Amino acid sequence: MAKGFYISKALGILGLLLGVAAICTIVALSVVYAQEKNRNAENSATDPLPSTTSSPATTVDQTKPWNQYRLPKSLVPESYRVRLRPYFTPNEHGQYIFQGSSTVRFTCQEATNLIIIHSKKLNYTKQQVLRGVGGSQAPAIDRTELVERTEYLVVHLQGSLSVGSQYEMDSEFEGELADDLAGFYRSEYTENNVLKVVATTQMQATDARKSFPCFDEPAMKATFNITLIYPRNLTALSNMLPKGPSVPLPEDPSWIVTEFNTTPKMSTYLLAYIISEFDKVESQSPDNVMIRIWARPSAIAEGHGDYALSVTGPILSFFAGHYDTPYPLEKSDQIGLPDFNAGAMENWGLVTYRENSLLFDPLSSSIGNKERVVTVVAHELAHQWFGNLVTVEWWNDLWLNEGFASYVEFLGADYAEPTWNLKDLIVLNDVYRVMAVDALASSHPLSSPAEEINTPAQISEVFDTISYSKGASVLRMLSSFLTEDLFKKGLASYLHAFEYQNTVYYDLWDHLQQAVTNQSAVKLPASVRTIMDRWILQMGYPVITVNTATGEISQEHFLLDPEANVTRPSEFNYLWIVPISSIRNGIEQEGYWLNGSQKAHSPQFTASGASEWILLNLNVTGYYQVNYDEDNWKKIQAQLQSDPSVIPVINRAQVIYDAFNLASAHRVPVTLALDNTRFLIQETEYMPWQAALSSLSYFQLMFDRSEVYGPMKSYLKKQVEPLFIYFQNLTKNWAERPPTLMEQYNEVNAISTACSSGLTDCKTLVKDLFRQWMDNPQQNPIHPNLRSTVYCNAIAEGSEVEWDFAWEQFRNATLVNEADKLRSGLACSNQVWILNRYLSYTLNPTLIRKQDATSTIISIASNVVGQTLVWDFVRSNWKTLFEDFGGGSFSFANLIQGVTRRFSSEYELEQLEKFKEDNKDIGFGSGTRALEQALEKTRANIKWVKENKDAVLQWFKANS
Ligand SMILES: *[C@@H]1O[C@H](CO)[C@@H](O)[C@H](O)[C@H]1NC(C)=O
Ligand SMILES: *[C@@H]1O[C@H](CO)[C@@H](O)[C@H](O)[C@H]1NC(C)=O
Ligand SMILES: *[C@@H]1O[C@H](CO)[C@@H](O)[C@H](O)[C@H]1NC(C)=O
Ligand SMILES: *[C@@H]1O[C@H](CO)[C@@H](O)[C@H](O)[C@H]1NC(C)=O
Ligand SMILES: [Zn+2]
Repeated sequence: MAKGFYISKALGILGLLLGVAAICTIVALSVVYAQEKNRNAENSATDPLPSTTSSPATTVDQTKPWNQYRLPKSLVPESYRVRLRPYFTPNEHGQYIFQGSSTVRFTCQEATNLIIIHSKKLNYTKQQVLRGVGGSQAPAIDRTELVERTEYLVVHLQGSLSVGSQYEMDSEFEGELADDLAGFYRSEYTENNVLKVVATTQMQATDARKSFPCFDEPAMKATFNITLIYPRNLTALSNMLPKGPSVPLPEDPSWIVTEFNTTPKMSTYLLAYIISEFDKVESQSPDNVMIRIWARPSAIAEGHGDYALSVTGPILSFFAGHYDTPYPLEKSDQIGLPDFNAGAMENWGLVTYRENSLLFDPLSSSIGNKERVVTVVAHELAHQWFGNLVTVEWWNDLWLNEGFASYVEFLGADYAEPTWNLKDLIVLNDVYRVMAVDALASSHPLSSPAEEINTPAQISEVFDTISYSKGASVLRMLSSFLTEDLFKKGLASYLHAFEYQNTVYYDLWDHLQQAVTNQSAVKLPASVRTIMDRWILQMGYPVITVNTATGEISQEHFLLDPEANVTRPSEFNYLWIVPISSIRNGIEQEGYWLNGSQKAHSPQFTASGASEWILLNLNVTGYYQVNYDEDNWKKIQAQLQSDPSVIPVINRAQVIYDAFNLASAHRVPVTLALDNTRFLIQETEYMPWQAALSSLSYFQLMFDRSEVYGPMKSYLKKQVEPLFIYFQNLTKNWAERPPTLMEQYNEVNAISTACSSGLTDCKTLVKDLFRQWMDNPQQNPIHPNLRSTVYCNAIAEGSEVEWDFAWEQFRNATLVNEADKLRSGLACSNQVWILNRYLSYTLNPTLIRKQDATSTIISIASNVVGQTLVWDFVRSNWKTLFEDFGGGSFSFANLIQGVTRRFSSEYELEQLEKFKEDNKDIGFGSGTRALEQALEKTRANIKWVKENKDAVLQWFKANS
């Protein structure tokens, strides 16, 4: 899937620093980049419970193959014929349903008298029919049963199927077209006050089985003949184009029947079919692939699909070149859906998106919204080859699929928007973001053994930030030490070798290795597989320490809490084979390998004299952090104060990020990290500022309820004032936007930081802008880039009047980007009663869409005023949230993470432990790991505050 739901991370980065001010900024900047995540909360909620009907509630007999979550290997599907008819009005019980019939043709590989096939929430209306194909005789059906726990239809046969023979089985069934965002489901929206229904799909990871009976595992590739029956005035789409013109349904000519071309051999989780009244814009890619962007007719009429259309062609031809493989299908459809759970989903040939990840309105969307569209489109299109054409065998290797797409999305997007320097942003959006999680003792390796991932809930849990962002980070490192050219060679060879098949992750290593072996320019200290195993099979990453006096270089597993006990063993003893790049006084040095040993020496790492310094990890292409002797740190600081431009901009961000992480881990004094932010008074670039704001957001969380906050605000105010003035001049007193993407992002940082640190000119600016809008609501004078931060700060400064005005605008907003900015701005109020009222709205889907409930609650929790309200709310409503409201759209992991982020006292730790204890019978589902992480984080916070509060207070006092 595409990046989808990591709004919480967004908040984690910048939002918290500036408290209310920055929450919106994040959304605007899209730094927040939600991660595509399949939150199968429904599965997690029901899975541990004994199933209610078909299987015995007592202990499950594990010797029965239908009690195993993995399919037996006895039957292999070859082709399906699926006919579906969704109803767009409710039946007499108020239920929206679909009727279906399907035929699956499969080959018997091992003799068996059972057909075990996935099926979830389907009611069968007729007895299955089984027949032999090509002369083989099918045994008679004895009986069928549904096993709810493992989601199977089990057909017991009177005789055995014979090895090598083919059979076809017909089924007829009904299912609910529910609004649960899973399987074949219903999305609703209103246009001109008329309720419209869209029938659409989200199969990944385990919900194709909710649409028709199928062997629902990614390695069970087959071809699909999809036929849809629907009211004649609607439009039907699927992975393929229709075979021919639609024909009226004989028994009811107000319905029509569309048969689609046979798909290539593919996995069930990539199927899609959608019936709607949507419109499209259309063009052809440079390689003559038909491209269409679909959305609500009014959105298409207003041109909101045009930007996506304009970047899709270039991105498709970029990837065809990058992979040295033509686009595998006859067309590429992309569709924006009003209700969609993930950020986007890479269904082959019919990619589905949240509206905000596909549609762009130049009049009211920010540059961040635009960046989101181009990167999410690039991510999904990257999957059309990597993931769809070649697919990993099982979900334990999901990280390869998602990590790869999360890496190359930057390459594809950079090709479409070459002036934006998008490739640099991976360092902020993925590398440092995931390091924060991977530095915990509770982290986990990228790859897990296949046998540890079985249930839908376990599958859902692998869609986490480690899979996406660490996967992207280590693949970028690999590509960097191989060189992009060699990486591409191996990649193309891998794709050619495995097209229409499945792989395990080291198949890619093998092909990269062949590419290395076939040339002589790039030399590695070990095979690709040997090097990469250490990054894939053990969790975490190293901190590299250099002593420039002696030339010693060493590595150690980096843990944010140095006293945390790592209970997970590693066959590599937490040592890595590390590619080391470096610069000395601005000059790049030769590459070096720290070859799996704990320590080494090289004259390359010595520096002498008063001003000679060394800096490692050029452009942060390596997935590690760096520490130096104090002397070298001081010399880097001196360089930054005198002429920062000698140090590349990504490394100026690195110096800040690494130092703050090292300080958290007690490896450098916290004052050294703070000293590393002093050069910002003359810095105008986005990345170093973003690094500082993001690192200091932790200080904000820990201290915004204490006496440290005053001096901290004064320091920030002092540092940001020149930046604020710089942008005021650059933009002719805020009348224009600066020319580049990064400058536009940093302009927003300047305003949000200036306002939240109390700069009077800034407060006046936002209040005036908001007031002008209230005076003339038809004409919003606030530039889309600035809206998030202006809304948030104006609402924080304002009263009920401002809030109610913004709420009304939110209710009337037709563009989802605008609604999202208002929705997070509304969480910035500093009035408890207003926030409480807002919180209650999140459980009312007519006020806040279900898909937005979690992120809204998290926004409120990010506000220091809302934090305790949300914690009380979560504690008292856990059962409701978990059991009733779950329904597939709620992210428990994000919720727990979001609400516990400020926890830093013994009292809060006790409350969290009690919460765990009190609800252990209800459970935490997909939030289980997040809860453990929250407990660990809280303990670390308590200790950190105890140890650092005084020093930090003194430092801010001395430097403000
Ligand atoms: C799907 O259509 C193709 C092409 O007509 C055909 O070869 C295949 O047998 C069909 N599959 C099934 C299950 O009917
Ligand atoms: C399927 O059967 C169950 C139990 O009889 C019923 O509650 C449900 O509404 C049925 N679903 C559909 C789509 O007919
Ligand atoms: C399609 O037909 C249905 C029922 O006949 C009607 O309610 C709906 O408004 C029609 N849609 C369009 C776009 O004409
Ligand atoms: C690690 O283990 C030691 C000894 O068992 C214990 O005292 C300490 O509290 C543990 N640390 C953490 C963070 O759990
Ligand atoms: Zn993806």
